[in-house]
Amino acid sequence: MGKRLRTVRDLDVGERRVLVRVDYNVPLEHGHVVDDTRIRETLGTIEWLIERRARIILCSHLGRPKGQVREDLRLAPVARTLSTLLGRSVHYVRDIVGPEAQEMAHRLQPGEVGLLENLRFDPREEANDPVFARELANLAECYVNDAFGAAHRAHASVVGVAQLLPSAAGLLMEREVTALDRVLHSSERPFVLVLGGAKVSDKIGVIENLLPRVDALLLGGGMANTFLKARGYELGRSLVEGDKVDEARRVVAVAEQRGVRIELPVDVVIAPSIDRPDARQVVRVGEVPADHAVFDIGPETVRRFAEVIATAKMLVWNGPMGVYEVPEFRAGTRGVAEAVAQCAGFTLVGGGDSVAALRELGLADRVAHLSTGGGATLEYLEGRELPGVAVLMEEVP
Ligand code: 3PG
Repeated sequence: MGKRLRTVRDLDVGERRVLVRVDYNVPLEHGHVVDDTRIRETLGTIEWLIERRARIILCSHLGRPKGQVREDLRLAPVARTLSTLLGRSVHYVRDIVGPEAQEMAHRLQPGEVGLLENLRFDPREEANDPVFARELANLAECYVNDAFGAAHRAHASVVGVAQLLPSAAGLLMEREVTALDRVLHSSERPFVLVLGGAKVSDKIGVIENLLPRVDALLLGGGMANTFLKARGYELGRSLVEGDKVDEARRVVAVAEQRGVRIELPVDVVIAPSIDRPDARQVVRVGEVPADHAVFDIGPETVRRFAEVIATAKMLVWNGPMGVYEVPEFRAGTRGVAEAVAQCAGFTLVGGGDSVAALRELGLADRVAHLSTGGGATLEYLEGRELPGVAVLMEEVP
């Protein structure tokens, strides 16, 4: 017996009302969507459903309103962006399961698209409340989950409703799971794992799960400081997770035992503080003054990382190499993005800043798979079962 992911192709959707869970948790500024990646990535599923004359009821969360209605977290800007991208109107309602939502759902004509209000305005969503799940299910005749980014949340719109209707994964969910499974199960070597971002604690599970298959581990970003500290370097005022230094030492020991090559920064970009990027300079890693902090990896480190990246047949990159919000501290992340784009192996990139760097450089289509998940992608790479994926699996002989 094995398991397979049921997909939208397995459902009979013609002229039916299909509830589609999407992850439109996108960044907004002044009421406008500033990065529409997650919306674009669902167009394939929506268009597939339109072609089959389904009546499409989209639903998503946005931000963390914790069961309260928040004007700044309404889905109106998302509806506008979606409508522009689809080139057709989107029937958006300021209601989730109440009379307005029900009326919209029942009025939709074949091939029309509706969008419900932010699911997390209702506290029952995060509680996976069975009555709320039933109310959502009553809007439709079948259910499709294309919200990979939310698949690690056992919420009503992710798990509860999937148990009440004929349900399947959308095309984006299928792509994500296929790409991540290739990373978890393939034997393509060398396997290079590139990790950055602020905290060791966010990535330790991924390192531990992938270590048995990895040939080289390249570490940058704030988390590398903790590893450098474990090697005895003084890092001035840099961010270091003091309580994770021992863990870093343990990971390095296990990796070395297994013959994994570990690359840490050899040079770094430092400044007196994050607000003084004008005073930045590059120093060797052992030369960080007590009154400075590290904000990016240096050019020599980028060169060394790029050399290893070029050898990869399988590569995963998650997390920026420096403080990406500050343009002067982006060079390390950009350098790694360029190297990853040139890599001929199977490359999977996740995490907002890593993906942003590739997009800004116009290199997004040079990567085999850009993951739309944040926490969901990391949990999958940790080898954990995601509740939103598990509920869509079926046994096969
Ligand atoms: C994300 O942005 O990672 C997903 O939309 C999940 O959001 P959450 O962490 O607020 O559940």
